[in-house]
Amino acid sequence: MRSTNEKAKQFWSGEGGDFWVENQEELDVTLEPLGRAALTNIDLSSCASVLDIGCGTGRTTIEIAKKLAANGKATGLDISKPMLKKAKMHAQAEGVENVSFDCVDAQVESLGDAVFDAAFSRFGVMFFEDSMEAFSNIQGALKEDAPLSFVCWQSPASNPWHARAMEVVTQYIDIPRPPRRSPSPFAFEERDYVEEILVAAKFRKIEIMPFEKKIVWFNGKDPHRAASSYLSINPIVSEGLAALDDEGKEKILAGLANLFSLNQIDGQIMFDSATWIVSAIK
Ligand SMILES: C[S@@+](CC[C@H](N)C(=O)[O-])C[C@H]1O[C@@H](n2cnc3c(N)ncnc32)[C@H](O)[C@@H]1O
Repeated sequence: MRSTNEKAKQFWSGEGGDFWVENQEELDVTLEPLGRAALTNIDLSSCASVLDIGCGTGRTTIEIAKKLAANGKATGLDISKPMLKKAKMHAQAEGVENVSFDCVDAQVESLGDAVFDAAFSRFGVMFFEDSMEAFSNIQGALKEDAPLSFVCWQSPASNPWHARAMEVVTQYIDIPRPPRRSPSPFAFEERDYVEEILVAAKFRKIEIMPFEKKIVWFNGKDPHRAASSYLSINPIVSEGLAALDDEGKEKILAGLANLFSLNQIDGQIMFDSATWIVSAIK
């Protein structure tokens, strides 16, 4: 196998993966309605084998497995060892047997030839060094006429959960924006770029629909605990914080806690979100 996505592998099997494992229940509450919007594009009752790309701790893979026809099987792929370990523990704890989790780089490793009835992803496809190669690989693993459906973020500016918090943080530390289209949560913010990738990968009937929804962040946490959590989500923020004095850190924490308290509804921190719900057919 060619060596690629090394930075992503390091991050997702290191601090990024550890954070998701620790905060998985909270993140599942945040992301569940967005994943559900993408999953409705796939008729699971008619599928025998479904691929979940960048499945993380496996919530969506397990949900898919439960909805499949008799003898149906869901396969979750990821490059994060700690997240896959957690995914397997979840499946076991819930007694879900028609599921498997494998450590596979969806961009470069073989996913099989025309073996899946559908492919899905909840925020797991924006981290490839070469997205064209990755989606061609995914296309090859789908059977003829099989659907692909995934959800990804629109721009940071249309996602105030990110933009507003970054406004607070960048008053005190300099956080460079990743280069346009480079692997990151916002790599697919441009609709035309997503379409270009899917056309190059020979998908048909491509639809990229905007989906806007208020979502819960830091489920059940008060604004102060949420502010501390926020600072550990983002590795670039944590890095910048290390160089900041205690007074600066306190100011960021207070600014974030204030932002979160202004965005509380019925005791939950809620922000608008904007995603693309992307669907296509092989
Ligand atoms: C934002 S997380 C989403 C996890 C999960 N889908 C969820 O919604 O909870 C992104 C996931 O993509 C995975 N990922 C990143 N690059 C990948 C690659 N090349 N192949 C497979 N998975 C990858 C990461 O390890 C991580 O689990």
